[in-house]
Amino acid sequence: MRRQIMDLVSDYYRQAHAAQPFIPGQTRVQYGGRIYDQRELMAAVDACLDFWLTAGPRAAAFEEQLAEYIGVHHALLVNSGSSANLIAVTALCSRRLEHPLAPGDEVITPAMGFPTTVAPIVQNGLVPVFVDCQLGTYNLDPGQLEPALSDRTRAMFFAHTLGNPVEMEQVMKFAQAHNLYVIEDACDALGSTYDGQMVGSFGHFAGLSFYPAHHITTGEGGAVLTDKPELARIAQNVRDWGRDCRCSYDSPPTGACGRRFEWKIPGIEEPYDHRYLFVEIGYNLKMTDVQAAIGLAQLEKLPDFVAARKRNFARLYEGLKPYEESLILPAWSKRADPSWFAFPITVRPDAPFSRREITGFLEDRNIETRFLFAGNIVRQPGYRHIKHRVVGNLLNSERVLRSTFFLGVYPGLDRTRIDYILETFADFFANIE
Ligand SMILES: Cc1ncc(COP(=O)(O)O)c(C=O)c1O
Repeated sequence: MRRQIMDLVSDYYRQAHAAQPFIPGQTRVQYGGRIYDQRELMAAVDACLDFWLTAGPRAAAFEEQLAEYIGVHHALLVNSGSSANLIAVTALCSRRLEHPLAPGDEVITPAMGFPTTVAPIVQNGLVPVFVDCQLGTYNLDPGQLEPALSDRTRAMFFAHTLGNPVEMEQVMKFAQAHNLYVIEDACDALGSTYDGQMVGSFGHFAGLSFYPAHHITTGEGGAVLTDKPELARIAQNVRDWGRDCRCSYDSPPTGACGRRFEWKIPGIEEPYDHRYLFVEIGYNLKMTDVQAAIGLAQLEKLPDFVAARKRNFARLYEGLKPYEESLILPAWSKRADPSWFAFPITVRPDAPFSRREITGFLEDRNIETRFLFAGNIVRQPGYRHIKHRVVGNLLNSERVLRSTFFLGVYPGLDRTRIDYILETFADFFANIE
């Protein structure tokens, strides 16, 4: 029956999910989206037929393969990239660490980025110290790190913006010199390398997102990465309600430790069930086995996805070079090999048009554009009141807020669509000249 069901699912995919022909101007050119075929559908149905539902064998396999791909010892699946970030910061505040982060401690972070890089800092009672970004790379400006230091500086939390690796040598040297924890928000950077090393493997923790626009998708989903067993343990506790027990789906009734009913709560005579021993103030941020099944199918395709993103980026870069007088094109470190999430563009101040005009023109022709996330987070309504420090004038973040947008490079963009994007730019520039 299972084989029959799988055959039907495969047929159904071909009928119901078949690619539609591209009609320039009519078909929406998305900036990102799910790339899947019958294999993801079959994997999801297969997991549903098992009906494990919560994290089970597929989640265990996905964690193992993901850790291996990145080159770290531990990958913990979670329900979003935002949850991964939250767990990373919360784990570093654990009293079980020798030097935990404490309320009022400062965390250096760029003002320009996605809000849930900053939110966990605030949610944990820490103080974000905002540094500016560089135009072109849109990553934190390493020149601002020294001025950001105070005697409360304890950590750095930054994203590899749109897949573009941060200048890691400078950043890691600075962190080591000042004994800082490093968290990489690698949510948009799966497959990017710096000096041949995967981003997400440099810091104490890193976060990944598997939301549909990302390099691989599980719908909602993400992962926490770390190389350090102590941090992995605490992160898992935080993810799983704060409980100490880390038994998995295949543990025996007496637990993986073999002494499940022999644990002690200080001051209590009777031994306690390890399943209900809580060592952290935690959440429940786990992924389901159905999502993990989809993730496993996606992971197999990741090298092809990364190659397609790089190819699309290169085509757009070549095609948009003639407009550099008006547009700042992306820049990246010579030591980086970015697995791009998107293609960022800043309209120069002396350009004879505004961001609104160019993005309006593209959107009218059904080409999806996005602003670069929060721009300058300090300007966002939800973040205006937070306790923070600012280094310098955040001039570049302010420019991103006003003048930057991005286009897609995802594998769903084939040559025809990229050509259409470039023809549309040519039309726009022909009209303003
Ligand atoms: C840099 C960055 N961090 C975190 C996130 C949050 O990921 P999620 O949507 O899975 O919560 C995103 C989302 O795109 C992101 O771009």
